[in-house]
Amino acid sequence: MIIAIDGPAAAGKGTLARRLAEHLGLRHLDTGLLYRATGLAVLEAGGDPADAQAAARAAQALDPARLADPALRSERVGAAASVVAAIPAVRAALLDFQRDFAHRPPGAVLDGRDIGTVVCPEADAKLFVTASLEARAERRWKEAVARGEPISFARILADMKERDARDANRSLAPLIPAADATVIDTSALDADSAFAAALAAIRD
Ligand code: CDP
Repeated sequence: MIIAIDGPAAAGKGTLARRLAEHLGLRHLDTGLLYRATGLAVLEAGGDPADAQAAARAAQALDPARLADPALRSERVGAAASVVAAIPAVRAALLDFQRDFAHRPPGAVLDGRDIGTVVCPEADAKLFVTASLEARAERRWKEAVARGEPISFARILADMKERDARDANRSLAPLIPAADATVIDTSALDADSAFAAALAAIRD
């Protein structure tokens, strides 16, 4: 069984995907980490995330062991991730890893931006998890504060707006709900209610 969860930053995809995977006995892949790890590798090498060749090389050389690095969580790395994610050679380099992961038994929950549309269009269930820009920026800001990252709410809001636009407007694998996805708006839902709504959609 493959479950595809897509949506914009901080919509609640990660928490939901982890809970669903645990509940259904499936493996889980946060595909954003692949783009974050690629962006971080370019930054660490002193390169520019917009440099297509450097970013493609970093994606091809990606070590899955690095996906657990806490450094991947920072806002700076999130911004670099969305820049490398617009480069076609980067997306191509990361595609096989995601598809192999999804198809290994007993199946998996993958969350990202293009899982239901590009990576696993054959998924058994597709969810598009979203929330208002303000609700998402507030969640991200609270996470950053909890990590001790000195960043203002206004800055997070502006960065998120920019990242949403970049993800939605890129020509390759833009952020859009698959035609057969169930949309779940979590602006006014807590994690338990979002989980219940997702489970109901999957059972349907
Ligand atoms: O955690 P957050 O939602 O902020 O971001 P993420 O899921 O870690 O993804 C970081 C960036 O990677 C996104 O802004 C997208 O540009 C890119 N991404 C993508 O293009 N395709 C995916 N399947 C997952 C992430």
